[in-house]
Amino acid sequence: MKLKPLVQAALALSTLVIAAPAVNAAAQVEVLHYWTSGGEAKSIAELKKMMEAKGVAWKDFAVAGGAGENATTALKARVIAGSAPTAAQIKGPSIQEWGGEGVLANIDAAATEGKWDSLLPSVVTKVMKYQGHYVAVPVNVHRVNWLWVNPEVLAKAGAKAPGNFDEFFAAADKIKKAGLVAIAHGGQPWQDTTVFESVVLGVGGAGFYDKALVKLDQASLTSPTMIKSFETLAKIKTYIDKDAAGRDWNLATAMVINGKAGMQFMGDWAKGEFTAAGKVAGKDFLCLPAPGTEKAFTFNIDSLAMFKVKNPEEQKAQLTLASAVMSPEFQEVFNLNKGSIPVRAGVSRAKFDSCATRSMDDMAAASKAGGLEPSMAHGMAIDSAKAGAIQDVVAKFMNSTMTPQAAVQALAKAAKTK
Ligand code: GAL
Repeated sequence: MKLKPLVQAALALSTLVIAAPAVNAAAQVEVLHYWTSGGEAKSIAELKKMMEAKGVAWKDFAVAGGAGENATTALKARVIAGSAPTAAQIKGPSIQEWGGEGVLANIDAAATEGKWDSLLPSVVTKVMKYQGHYVAVPVNVHRVNWLWVNPEVLAKAGAKAPGNFDEFFAAADKIKKAGLVAIAHGGQPWQDTTVFESVVLGVGGAGFYDKALVKLDQASLTSPTMIKSFETLAKIKTYIDKDAAGRDWNLATAMVINGKAGMQFMGDWAKGEFTAAGKVAGKDFLCLPAPGTEKAFTFNIDSLAMFKVKNPEEQKAQLTLASAVMSPEFQEVFNLNKGSIPVRAGVSRAKFDSCATRSMDDMAAASKAGGLEPSMAHGMAIDSAKAGAIQDVVAKFMNSTMTPQAAVQALAKAAKTK
């Protein structure tokens, strides 16, 4: 992320500036996030409520744009200006990148008091720590390899809920014939990549996904299996409506909710939209593992990284925020709204619906059987430069007549981005 010289200069400058009497940022947290859809806004509102109940004011720094496509730019600008927010939604390997810039705060005090080491899986704590110290707090676990289905649309079209790609395309054909949109999609690079990674998982299995999209093995990236993945993606394109370009993911989900479309590939933040619309899992909508991915689980863990703040009151409020996020009360209410599942141990599953409990069970099973994989499309697997280059290739494939053969070559090259 090559911010270092700029950040250091800005930090030095801000130290000079605060020689003037500091504004009293007493008991306030400013939190940058991109949770702006209906379900997401309800989820983050719970944190705001909880902080206010603890006497901490909430300054909302929301930057719209799915998967944080605009949030990172806004965050960089603020950090370079020497005025980082208290916390920001940053996840996966990016936490290490920000840690390397020297701008993240040590929140070990909250972690020790809350016994985080014993409540979180070690794969998660590793990501939340920079050089052995906690700098971020995890919020949830999202599963990415889902297919969201409107059962009424299936019934109208005489189609069956699909388990593999043959069944998926058979269902898509029937929905299309019935005059409805088979696949709801928003033509944005991150959404294209979300579909792509589920297709790779379905076509090649978890072992292949891991070699290709996590380890970035060149032979796998150019293999016949990857060519087949792009062929499958090309076929999927033919079932997307002509107005998809630029459409936000939640508007695509709304098409499934309203019965205009039959199915959507999307992580379970989509469930937050169904829930916010009063729809019931298993009745009004189905959550199926994306075709051919039943035994695998691609995870996407949201977290709030904490920035170095100078005012002692704000530092205290920052630790209060970190502790609140890890509390069982927050993890329950947030995830009920967000569509995800709690990341920490010790939260009752009683209130969670069938999609969430399936997610919990499938995650445990995949973890045992070796099918638990980090989501590449959602910043869990590889560094941001490589992920960005791969996203560009997939988006280009979705929006042009690029052949699968050309795509795999471009993909292999993108994976070498430094
Ligand atoms: C994901 C993020 C989710 C959700 C989604 C759409 O990357 O992890 O929390 O916000 O993007 O913006």
